[in-house]
Amino acid sequence: MTHQLKDLQDYKETYARSIKDPEGFWADEAATFKWHKKWDNVLSWDFVKPDVKWFEGGKLNITENCLDRHIAERGNHTAFLWEPNDPASPSVHISYRELLEKVCQCANALKELGIKKGDRVVFYMPMVPELAIGILACARIGAVHSVVFAGFSAQALADRVDDAQAKMIICSDGNNRGNKLIPVKQIVDDALEISCQSIEHVLVHKNTRTDVNWNNQIDIWWHSAVDKQSVTCKPEIMDAEDLLFILYTSGSTGKPKGVVHTCGGYMVYACSTFRNVFQYQDGDIYWCTADIGWITGHSYIIYGPLLSGATSLMFEGVPTYPDAGRFWQICEKHKVNQFYTAPTAIRALMAQGNEWPDKYDLSSIKLLGSVGEPINEEAWHWYDEHIGKKNSPLIDTWWQTETGGIMITPLPGITDTKPTFASYPLPGIQPVLMNADGTEEKNNNAEGLLCIKFPWPGILRTTYGDHERCKLTYFSAFKNMYFTGDGARRDSDGRIRVIGRVDDVINVSGHRMGTAEVENAIDEHPEVIESAVVGYPHDIKGQGIYAYVIVSHNASNDIINEIRKVVTKEIGPIAKPDKIQIVSELPKTRSGKIMRRILRKIASNELDTIGDVSTLVNPDVVDEIIKGAPI
Ligand code: WT7
Repeated sequence: MTHQLKDLQDYKETYARSIKDPEGFWADEAATFKWHKKWDNVLSWDFVKPDVKWFEGGKLNITENCLDRHIAERGNHTAFLWEPNDPASPSVHISYRELLEKVCQCANALKELGIKKGDRVVFYMPMVPELAIGILACARIGAVHSVVFAGFSAQALADRVDDAQAKMIICSDGNNRGNKLIPVKQIVDDALEISCQSIEHVLVHKNTRTDVNWNNQIDIWWHSAVDKQSVTCKPEIMDAEDLLFILYTSGSTGKPKGVVHTCGGYMVYACSTFRNVFQYQDGDIYWCTADIGWITGHSYIIYGPLLSGATSLMFEGVPTYPDAGRFWQICEKHKVNQFYTAPTAIRALMAQGNEWPDKYDLSSIKLLGSVGEPINEEAWHWYDEHIGKKNSPLIDTWWQTETGGIMITPLPGITDTKPTFASYPLPGIQPVLMNADGTEEKNNNAEGLLCIKFPWPGILRTTYGDHERCKLTYFSAFKNMYFTGDGARRDSDGRIRVIGRVDDVINVSGHRMGTAEVENAIDEHPEVIESAVVGYPHDIKGQGIYAYVIVSHNASNDIINEIRKVVTKEIGPIAKPDKIQIVSELPKTRSGKIMRRILRKIASNELDTIGDVSTLVNPDVVDEIIKGAPI
């Protein structure tokens, strides 16, 4: 297994080496895995094209490193510990040996259904073990998985299926989420009505007793296809740079793009970061509360923990069911040692009062993690005091779908922590702050645009089917730099604090959302003429969605509800605007550009700093919008 950093000196020396001799450093990390053939070349890179290759010529299968490799030593150890939505139902322990067998059975079923190396398989499933099993089964046979968060709408699912030209969707019949029953298969049926011409089969896992419509030509039950299969399946031998998965994420323009990760580099990076950041020790129970529909679930529920031979807890439900103590009840029940969640969950639970965590024994917790958005000071301290009891290091981990794994974070017990600071780069990571004029900001106590100036094994390779977009989005803002889209500040000791997006991307409850994407959805309503969407500070969600909309004169009285509905239909409930204001005009420059800066100020109620509006073609509209702002 990859090296696990021991102490501050180890971190300092390892970091220094990783900068001086990145190839030597990463080759040593990579050498700890099982390869069928060693790589010819550790790294080749060009950030202009961009073209980055790690461990080129190396041959491997990631599932052998996640599963087969552990059988001799820890075949009976729990790989996944599954906690169901209903606290009265039993938890399920799946050992490494059982998991390998289940993955092989599913892999054999996929092959029988015609899935081959390189084919894309889309997942639209709740947090059940079969989701992880299916993902690993794809990796076993070299199929490319693309998980779509099951909160997205049929339209959003169809868009992603079409973009990836996927051959199969794997879903469940339904999903028990809190006290709701979600008709998952019905949403897949709706997506197939919309488009999804490339789909040959829908593999349906029976998870609830939901009634489903059945199309004999396409639909197949998981149990009838999988259960009869052999429990062994030879892994497909992959090139290090073959695709492992696609994961769609929102950007500042257009439709979501498919971030591409490849087998070798992603494997090395997911494992190395997991072991260092969570300081996982044999026997620990590690819990990441993310959904597998996001990158956090890919890297830190499935791949990182399994590559490290860890026990990874997977939770089907929601933090508030049956009550606001559920997370803490699960921590007590399973004696969780490392707990990793998002600021939005912390804020929501903090608002429910201290009596919830106080009811449970949280003494097993050694480490608290935060991810997904900037964590505010108040939430940081509550988490530290009421969950960590002030003796578990709290690590604020900064990274992105595109980075594959954690990039900047304190190391528990090794480096210090400071509220709201992601702090220090991991070995191999070279962050820089850039000024808008293209020069590097070298001073401490300064702000800039966060870029990374050297490749790491987990960096995205392209955006699926559109390399130009990858180049434009990440590699064009500054020459020879990967641009993150985030603004950051460096304190006097060199710690980094990530402030938030500087582009038209907002972060709603840790979910990344393009404002243009929400505008496009709103504009689908026939009575909408134009819209502008901005983020504003929201106590629980971090950012809320504020939509300014111009509607036609004959729009119905219920237009605001109708707009919410159309967004839910086009994207999903997570994109529903929190506030909608009907306006007669939007503030525009002479060249016709919407001045979002002004709209952001109004939405945030920062009226004193609106600044000069005289360059607008319609300065009067600003006052009108301020007067009509919904409370
Ligand atoms: C964006 C990436 C990484 C997995 C979850 C989100 C924001 C993420 C932090 C943090 C401040 C953070 C950034 C980033 N972000 N973690 N610890 N502090 N901001 O992945 O959906 O790809 O979103 O989330 O703005 O660019 P994602």
